[in-house]
Amino acid sequence: MEKELNGKKAIITGASTGIGAATAIAFAREGASIIINYNKSFEEAKKVQEKARSYGAEAYVFKADVTNEEEVKQLVEFAKDKFSSIEVLVNNAGDLLERKSLIEMDLDYWKKHIDLNLTSAYIVTKNSLPLFLNSKSRDKAIINISSIAAITGGGKGAAAYATAKGGLKTFTKALAKELSAYNIRVVSVMPGLIITPFHQKAKTEDIEGWASKQVLLKRAGNAEEVAEVITFLASTRASYVNSTEIFVDGGWIMG
Ligand SMILES: NC(=O)c1ccc[n+]([C@@H]2O[C@H](COP(=O)([O-])OP(=O)(O)OC[C@H]3O[C@@H](n4cnc5c(N)ncnc54)[C@H](OP(=O)(O)O)[C@@H]3O)[C@@H](O)[C@H]2O)c1
Repeated sequence: MEKELNGKKAIITGASTGIGAATAIAFAREGASIIINYNKSFEEAKKVQEKARSYGAEAYVFKADVTNEEEVKQLVEFAKDKFSSIEVLVNNAGDLLERKSLIEMDLDYWKKHIDLNLTSAYIVTKNSLPLFLNSKSRDKAIINISSIAAITGGGKGAAAYATAKGGLKTFTKALAKELSAYNIRVVSVMPGLIITPFHQKAKTEDIEGWASKQVLLKRAGNAEEVAEVITFLASTRASYVNSTEIFVDGGWIMG
């Protein structure tokens, strides 16, 4: 059977753990050539590379802090050197560094979350655009990993994070208007409660208890369940999916 991503070259940001790692592995399984970006988790990124290469994929690891434009330029230069062009970018890197209410937070906290979860996508997309334009493919895709928090306002102490994710969803719509002319589709993925290291870092309490009340399927999801959707969106099977949000949340109970 033809692999879904044969011939596609992709950059996946924050691909050392969680959803990004699962996406890198799924992309490799489906025949893509990939750049696995990481910032702090080198060992984990190497393991993702090893797994990707076990599928016969061309896979490289590159460290860059996505909030730092100079480092992102180096990431893109590396991708250019390896691939000349790309067809897929997954803006996945992001985190809720600490939970703080408006009363508790200060401007530095606010800016860090906006930078990490929103401005980062601007920096990586802006710098990657020439690589997309180098590709003659008629089906290219940028997939922005937003969050259900963009719609709900987020869990406890997540106002800055949720606001950034809302901005990312809007960025998707604006980019689709500009980039469709170049055969670049732009889509947001909105994960719900997904079990990854994110929740250890964010100190989320009782994820399964929360999911049992908030999710129609009454369970949290896993990174692979999100990665499969991202893989579909990156593929030409999704060639008419554009300028929209795809929820991967098990059915979020809004009422
Ligand atoms: N888990 C959920 O319930 C959930 C729900 C909705 C949306 N999301 C979103 O899904 C995305 C992936 O999160 P995850 O759940 O898979 O969590 P995760 O396992 O903690 O992954 C976060 C990834 O982002 C990377 N990262 C963080 N800061 C970075 C920086 N400055 N530069 C480059 N990379 C950076 C991390 O790399 P290093 O460790 O190498 O620094 C890691 O690979 C995030 O955007 C998150 O907001 C998650």
